[in-house]
Amino acid sequence: MLRLAQSRHILALATIMVLGFTFTLFSMLYETNLNVEQLVSQRISFVILTKDGQRNTQILKSHFPQARVSLGNNASIEGSLEDIYKEKYIQELEHFMKHSKTMLVMLLEDDVIPVYTNKTLWYHIAINTVPLFSNDLANFDCSKRGLFLTTTSDGNKSLCRMFSKETLAEQIKCLRSITDPIDITIHYCQEQLNITQKRFLAFVHSGMPSVIQHHDTIIY
Ligand SMILES: *[C@@H]1O[C@H](CO)[C@@H](O)[C@H](O)[C@H]1NC(C)=O
Ligand SMILES: *[C@@H]1O[C@H](CO)[C@@H](O)[C@H](O)[C@H]1NC(C)=O
Ligand SMILES: *[C@@H]1O[C@H](CO)[C@@H](O)[C@H](O)[C@H]1NC(C)=O
Ligand SMILES: *[C@@H]1O[C@H](CO)[C@@H](O)[C@H](O)[C@H]1NC(C)=O
Repeated sequence: MLRLAQSRHILALATIMVLGFTFTLFSMLYETNLNVEQLVSQRISFVILTKDGQRNTQILKSHFPQARVSLGNNASIEGSLEDIYKEKYIQELEHFMKHSKTMLVMLLEDDVIPVYTNKTLWYHIAINTVPLFSNDLANFDCSKRGLFLTTTSDGNKSLCRMFSKETLAEQIKCLRSITDPIDITIHYCQEQLNITQKRFLAFVHSGMPSVIQHHDTIIY
C-alpha cells in the first residue's frame, strides 16, 4: 500500500515537473503580450521585388502598407536576367543601409503569398525575429518551416529573406565579389562571414512562374 502511495506521489511530482517545464518553454517561445505592431513596424523594413507591380504586389502591399515597391529591372547594367536581378537585389540592400532606421530588412518576391491571416502574420514575424541571445545577428529565410532553429543555408532559391543591418555592409561587399546567382552568393557569403541563418514560415509560393531562370529551369 505504502509503495503504491509513494509511486503515486512520484507520478504526481513528475507530472507537475513536466507541466512546469512545458509551461516555461511555451511562455519563453510564445510571449503573450508582445507589442507586435511596434516590433514589426519599428524594427523591420519591407521591400517587394517586382518587375511591373503585377502578380501579388498589391496583396503584399496590403499586408505591409509601409513596404517599398521595387519596380523594374532598375539595375542599369548589361547582363543576363540573373545578373540584373542580382544587381537589383544588392541595390535594394544598399538603399536599406543608407536610408532606413530599422534593424532588419525583408525582401519579398512578388510571387509569394502569406501563409497566415494578417494579424497572425505580423505576430509570427515579430516573435521569430526577436533574438534568443544577445548579439544574435542572423539572416532569416522566411519561406521555410522552422522552429527558431539555426539552419545552414543550401544556396537554393528563397522567396523571402531577411538581413540584419549589423552585418550587411560586409555582406554587400561579399555579394559583389563573386559572379554566381544571388541565392548561391548569399549562401557563400553567409558561410564566409559566419552569419547565422534561421528560418520560419511566413510566405509560400503562389504558383506563378518566377521571372528569373535558374540553370535553364524555371524555379517555382
Ligand atoms: C495588416 O496589419 C497591419 C498592421 O496592423 C496594417 O497596417 C495592415 O493594413 C493590415 N493589412 C490587412 C490586409 O489587414
Ligand atoms: C532606379 O534607379 C534610379 C537611379 O539610381 C533611381 O533614381 C530610382 O529611384 C530607381 N527606381 C526604383 C524604383 O528603385
Ligand atoms: C537544393 O537544390 C538541389 C538541386 O535542386 C537539391 O538537390 C537539394 O536537395 C536542395 N537542398 C535542399 C536542402 O532542399
Ligand atoms: C568564421 O569561423 C571560422 C571557424 O570558426 C574562422 O576560422 C573564421 O576566421 C571566421 N571568419 C570570420 C570572417 O569571422
